Amino acid sequence: MSKPKILVTGANGQIGRVLTQALRNRYGQNAVLATDITKLGDDVEPFEFLDILNNQRLRELVSDHKITQVYHLAAILSANGEWNPIKTWNINLNGLLSVLELAKEFNMEKVFFPSTIAVFGNTTPRIDTPQDVPLLPTTVYGMSKSTGELWCNYYHQKFGLDVRSIRYPGIIGWQSLPAGGTTDYAVEIYHEALKHQKYECFLEENTRLPMMYMDDAIKATIDLMEAPKESIAIRYGYNLAAMSFTPKEIADEIKKHIPDFNVTYKPDFRQQIAASWTESIDDSMARKDWGWQPNFDLASMTIDMLHHLKNTIL
Ligand code: SER
Repeated sequence: MSKPKILVTGANGQIGRVLTQALRNRYGQNAVLATDITKLGDDVEPFEFLDILNNQRLRELVSDHKITQVYHLAAILSANGEWNPIKTWNINLNGLLSVLELAKEFNMEKVFFPSTIAVFGNTTPRIDTPQDVPLLPTTVYGMSKSTGELWCNYYHQKFGLDVRSIRYPGIIGWQSLPAGGTTDYAVEIYHEALKHQKYECFLEENTRLPMMYMDDAIKATIDLMEAPKESIAIRYGYNLAAMSFTPKEIADEIKKHIPDFNVTYKPDFRQQIAASWTESIDDSMARKDWGWQPNFDLASMTIDMLHHLKNTIL
């Protein structure tokens, strides 16, 4: 296989920032074209502006840069999505359709589509959620991702497109901030613990959600994308798990390092979203098909987060 030429959409998002760098470390700086609707100032070249709804621009970039793989991360997350449902649907679903169509037309090698635990809903079994379950998402974000999964599966079956996808849990990392998700509290809590030794949490203290450290999320993504084609049995989102915890449990873990840390709870509309997701995930298919195994649990993640954030935000 010749060297890949990768386009990342949403490269300035929470995962995009870290994944773009990881892909560049792996395949070379110029092998990865970062694109986003916003520029952050410290973007590493090559970078191009891209509104994912601008199909013409996307086509030009794919053609001019001879793109062979797309990591399509551009999306609006669960909480922000509820403020503008139609715009969210447009960006999340029509953006994906443009990518899939171009991938087919340009005969691309591979496409990565990030799905999420937000595809689950109130009818989904909550503990050790199996791979194939009823999906009745409660947010537009979840609706767009579960429909997106179907489209990925369709493009694979119908056109042989090599689409691969993961249902990410909440992702926690020190390198970047999430924007507008329901699991954002689990990143904010570390920042506030270090800066102010207090945090007001927007979820109830006993709301358990599946979570994952950024390093594991990046490893999973690259492992999945590099796995032999024959081993990929699932073309919608693979269930993926690393840890599950409640706001109280993460607060207690942080308190082991910052004893004065104090957390108060003031649940808002995001509580209802969180309550519709599941508590823990059965990811045995990912383990079996492409050897998935996480490295971080709550304790080791907390040590690593605090260590890195101390050096970057204080
Ligand atoms: N972290 C995402 C969110 O909270 C879930 O995919 O919206």
